[in-house]
Amino acid sequence: MSKKSTFLTFFAKVKIRGDALSKGKFYITTAIDYPSSNPHLGHAYEKLCADVLARWHRLLGKEVFFLTGTDEHGIKIMRAAEKANMSPQEFVDMQSEKFKELCKLWNISYDRFIRTTEAQHIKIAQEIFKKIYENGDIYLGKYVGKYCPDCETFYTEKDLVNGKCPVHNKPCEIVSEESYFFRLSKYKEKILEYLEKNELSIWPAGKKEEIRNRLKNGLLDLSVSRTSFDWGVPVPINPKHVQYVWVDALINYISGIDYPSERFKRFWPADVHLIGKDIVWHHTVIWWSLLMSANIELPKTVLVHGFIQTAGGEKMSKSKGNVIDPIELAKRYNVDAIRYYLIREIPFGEDGYFSEEKLIERNNTELANDLGNLVNRTLAMIERYFNSTIPSGSLDNALKEKLRLQAIMQHMQNFELHLALAEIMQFVKACNQYINEKEPWKKQGSELADIIYTLAESLRVIALLLHPFIPTSAERIANSLGIKITNFEDIFSGKGLAGNRIEKIGILFEKTKR
Ligand code: MSP
Repeated sequence: MSKKSTFLTFFAKVKIRGDALSKGKFYITTAIDYPSSNPHLGHAYEKLCADVLARWHRLLGKEVFFLTGTDEHGIKIMRAAEKANMSPQEFVDMQSEKFKELCKLWNISYDRFIRTTEAQHIKIAQEIFKKIYENGDIYLGKYVGKYCPDCETFYTEKDLVNGKCPVHNKPCEIVSEESYFFRLSKYKEKILEYLEKNELSIWPAGKKEEIRNRLKNGLLDLSVSRTSFDWGVPVPINPKHVQYVWVDALINYISGIDYPSERFKRFWPADVHLIGKDIVWHHTVIWWSLLMSANIELPKTVLVHGFIQTAGGEKMSKSKGNVIDPIELAKRYNVDAIRYYLIREIPFGEDGYFSEEKLIERNNTELANDLGNLVNRTLAMIERYFNSTIPSGSLDNALKEKLRLQAIMQHMQNFELHLALAEIMQFVKACNQYINEKEPWKKQGSELADIIYTLAESLRVIALLLHPFIPTSAERIANSLGIKITNFEDIFSGKGLAGNRIEKIGILFEKTKR
């Protein structure tokens, strides 16, 4: 068996639920952020997790569409603009740029950044509203009740905690105005049925249970228009009203792929709507009912990540002054180190803490020491012993077996991003141990060539597997070996590395102090 096919054969053994490597599409979205204030670490974390999944599916060979953006209507934005002495449009134009800058600095590989003030989105939001109205699911009434402008959500007395918004712990405003209502109550049984039938409709399962229990308490119709302000999508059947901002916002997931065009047909239903735990109700009960009413297929998975808190365990909030600015953070640290730290540290789906000390610790030990040293030692040996050209040799089976590719694939499939990353880093450690045990500096001839060839091929696999998590550094490793990162199939079916000239890349991760 030729050397190049050894990794391929090994890879071919990996079959996850039969579809890991299947071609096909993968459509992933994040929530669209309120640009009423600047981006915070929670926004960055969500985009990062989506980016890891998007990049992973590109590696699998899928056609990926990754949508993110900003949610620019509603009373919260209007008030923030007033405070800034700007028109709402000027204000969101300015603020959305900050979210784009965040994406750029954090290397978020989105395919489209949607803004809900775009003409195309407004048109589609109106079309869907009209369709739902024509289907008989919208009627005119009067809304009298509580509203939290911070989460742009209506609450019943039962939802409140000590009479306050359960998310923001602030008193709600009393709203009393003419409003269109959507027959949300009509969809209760259908949603329960969908939850029963579809294993992955909401992940993790605990969140699914929460929705099921809340639904069992009953479901009221939803107020879907406002008349007391005008910063929103005009209701097509009555322009005195603007659409409830959540209805407008949720529609971004289909307007972002140009509903009802060819692109929509290609990518819908979404494979993953990635969101935080505070908006699961909106993305399941409300979104699914709107879709059912408009006769549009339901998304496959609503994937719920946890919240990031500060090291003291406090929720980040502007009033507490403990909000971490992800743009400023990215200017102080290597972005790949931040990305690595967040994914490695926080079990996906759970809440986690952000601590700069821990970020530095993981940077210095796992990235600078374990990964950086492996890369530098390997490249230095190729330079010293083989005049900078990767020798041909045989792969070491014992080391190869330490790469638990199947477990990595399975973790990614199960959304256990932290475990996948931990597995990859175990292999990095195994490679360092391999060098220590083999002592290549004491070897010569084919024995030395085998060790170095094995290390070079291992680095190639490591670069590929780490690419979704630390893309810039993974590309630097790949470049140093004379290869490009494309997808698994290309890499594993491409020719072996023997004969490639290496490029030294300097320090991959600088050790840092606070
Ligand atoms: N605009 C709505 C979403 C509309 S989607 C059709 C919204 N915006 S938001 O700016 O408040 O939140 C955007 C995303 O950030 C949400 O998924 C939310 O859960 C997430 N996070 C907000 N604070 C967070 C943390 N502290 N940690 C992690 N994610 C957090 O809701």
